[in-house]
Amino acid sequence: MKSSSTTQLDLAPLTPAYDSILELSPYQTGKPVEELTREYGVSDVVKLASNENPMGCSPQVTLAITEQLGQLARYPDGNGYYLKQTLSDFNDVTVDQITLGNGSNDLLDILARSFVGADDAIVYSEYAFVVYSMLAKMQGATGVEVPAQNYGHNLKAMSQAVTDNPNTKVVFIANPNNPTGTQLGQKALRDFVAGVPSSVLVVLDEAYIEYSPESNNRALIDEFDNVVIVRTFSKAYGLAGLRVGYALSSVAVAKLINRVRQPFNVSRIGLAAATAALADQSFIKAVRETNDEQMRWLEKQFDALGLRFIKSYANFIMVEINMEMEDTTAIDIHQALLEQGVIVRPLAGYGLHSWLRITVGVAEENLRLIDTLRSILNDN
Ligand SMILES: Cc1ncc(COP(=O)(O)O)c(C=O)c1O
Repeated sequence: MKSSSTTQLDLAPLTPAYDSILELSPYQTGKPVEELTREYGVSDVVKLASNENPMGCSPQVTLAITEQLGQLARYPDGNGYYLKQTLSDFNDVTVDQITLGNGSNDLLDILARSFVGADDAIVYSEYAFVVYSMLAKMQGATGVEVPAQNYGHNLKAMSQAVTDNPNTKVVFIANPNNPTGTQLGQKALRDFVAGVPSSVLVVLDEAYIEYSPESNNRALIDEFDNVVIVRTFSKAYGLAGLRVGYALSSVAVAKLINRVRQPFNVSRIGLAAATAALADQSFIKAVRETNDEQMRWLEKQFDALGLRFIKSYANFIMVEINMEMEDTTAIDIHQALLEQGVIVRPLAGYGLHSWLRITVGVAEENLRLIDTLRSILNDN
């Protein structure tokens, strides 16, 4: 099979819409299990690289999907009637405040395409979800990256960045943040929103909200028409493979972005699965409890191994590989883990060269991770 280089693009005489598109690197996904098995011949792979739910999804989802299988020749409901009804009850918003997406990434993209032009700026934090800077490049816009504070968002500095860049159209904030797992206080966030001009859209990316209910800033939608909350079924709901997300906003913003989104952007199976998944909150409670318990266990193990970590409010944790071990880098440890069938995420792409991001697994996966990590560290 031929594969093409991703860095060298010989497009001439074609040119992309903006030069900044040429600066994009392909989004780095966690290595799929199948690829690791193919490359290293290891079976029994543990994937802790993409913040997926190791507990799978609610059993109700299987039933809902099965019911759709005879209907696959038919387009899905383009307005997602049942999912929107369920989301409306769950979030106490009206149906016309909801926009559905093919994963929450689709909604981030739709928001950028709807509001940001080449003369505009997007503000986001250093070490925040990489897609925000990619969207700035895709729109040919200025990406304003604000230095992080203790690995999280520095809201004061972000506010100043909005003032300093009067062409700012969108601010992206991930809460909790990926990859650092940090969380913002509700008051600090409200003060931030209250302080930015109402012409600036503040997008709160709550992809990990189910793991940290105190990060729920749904109330801001009632108070501020320029706030959008974006959520996903890919993480705690365990439906990453189906691609379903949603945005909550003012009616006016929802009306606009609903015009920009592609028709039928959520599949028939995705709609049915997400509706069933949302209705099963007892599953989400069990997921949160397991994650909390396993997170505490992992923290203890990292302490015992002498590895620094950043307190995380999501389903992953960022761990520092001790650079005192001169010639052993996070990339080396990542590679050694890979060769033994454990996939984690190196963070050099974020400029976090000495850090790994590890998704919290179920007990036996975490045990395998720690045992493997311990033996690698002892050998170095
Ligand atoms: C902060 C954040 N936002 C959005 C996404 C996109 O997720 P999805 O498109 O699967 O909903 C992710 C995925 O890793 C994420 O970490």
